Amino acid sequence: MTTTSRDSFTGKFGVIAAAAGSAVGLGNIWRFPYVVGENGGGAFLLVYILFIFAIGIPVMVSELLIGRRSQKNVFGAFRTLAPDKPFFMIVGIMGVGAAFMILAFYSVVAGWTLEYTYMAIGDNLLDKSSAELSAFFESFSESTAGPIGWMVLFMTLTAGIVIGGVKKGIERYTKILMPILFVIIVVLCINSAMLPGAGEGFAFLFKPDFSKVTGSVILEALGQAFFSLSIGMGVIATYGSYIQKKENLLNTAISVSIADTLIAVLAGVAIFPAVFAFGINPSAGPGLVFETLPNVFNQMSGGYLFSVAFFLLLVIAALTSSVSLLEVVVAYFSEELKMNRKLATVIAASVITGLGVVCVIYDKVFTFFDKTSSNVLLPLGGIFIAIFVGWVLGKAKTKDELEAHGGKARLVGFLMIILKVIAPIAIGIVFLNGIGLL
Ligand code: PHE
Repeated sequence: MTTTSRDSFTGKFGVIAAAAGSAVGLGNIWRFPYVVGENGGGAFLLVYILFIFAIGIPVMVSELLIGRRSQKNVFGAFRTLAPDKPFFMIVGIMGVGAAFMILAFYSVVAGWTLEYTYMAIGDNLLDKSSAELSAFFESFSESTAGPIGWMVLFMTLTAGIVIGGVKKGIERYTKILMPILFVIIVVLCINSAMLPGAGEGFAFLFKPDFSKVTGSVILEALGQAFFSLSIGMGVIATYGSYIQKKENLLNTAISVSIADTLIAVLAGVAIFPAVFAFGINPSAGPGLVFETLPNVFNQMSGGYLFSVAFFLLLVIAALTSSVSLLEVVVAYFSEELKMNRKLATVIAASVITGLGVVCVIYDKVFTFFDKTSSNVLLPLGGIFIAIFVGWVLGKAKTKDELEAHGGKARLVGFLMIILKVIAPIAIGIVFLNGIGLL
């Protein structure tokens, strides 16, 4: 990288690893299965995959190029690229707001993951029956001291990494650890598939029942796609600003999206056969993964080691995502409000921790933050990002940025049609229909 003041990622795998580190997290392994379960399974999955490719990848490319072209945080990016259109700073405002909301409940769930890691290490998960596991999750998640303690620990870790700086902080962990998590999930899939009654889980996940598709199901699929890809709020734009010119942004977006979707689907394959085999309700909600997977560890050889490794790596996957969320706020505070980076991190992390406490105590706030961020803020951010690149930045600059790596940009015309027309209209319709206004 030529500038000295901004951190950057080191190479191809570094970029993909960091963006994938943001994308792959609790969204894939905790949120995806629980939302699939609540929305009827197979048909939801199909709609979800359609959204990833038709809307998610184009919006991700847009964010990457907004960040790289401007070399700024989300606010500064829009101001730099279109100084005469202050309206688009709304994306920055919504993005920072979304980061606060998401991190608040995300760190609570990450706290649950820490508790499960602790339980797994102490070998306190494997001796429980399915009913006991569900009861344990319920009483734990409804208590306050434990969840708050773990959440605070998680936010402290997140802030520590962000203070340490982007490159050293994020890249190093993601590169080695995410492939290991992937292997563990594959092993879980195999074990889950061999459970008696697994077929029902496969049918739930892969046999679409279109009678289950309603407006709100479609909006949930869109929201989950945005959430899982980390798009619609500036995380990917902020990371884009750290990407070197020699990287190919379209390929980066495609690789990250495919990796993210693969991990989500594999998490589904690991979880749903077990859900049915152990008689758990697929629409059990946010506890689904925690109530289901320990049963699988129980049944398999090497369950102890796998359970410890799985929950530990899940914590790390959550960390590489939470770091990217906090980075949006910190880049904004430090570059726009000219705050010292350390102070910015401490302030942001403290406020978010406070909101996290509220999420632990009030279930309703947790759910409100969870649903509003994914189903409202991210899709709306996505509309503005698509419109910005499609109509304001325009084809010539988009092409130029996509070709900055020295190669020929493919599919620019097609991308422009999606960004100008298809994505804004489709997201708009899905959104209005999903909230019952259309
Ligand atoms: N994509 C992350 C995950 O799946 C969560 C996230 C959402 C991160 C939005 C950044 C922005 O866990």
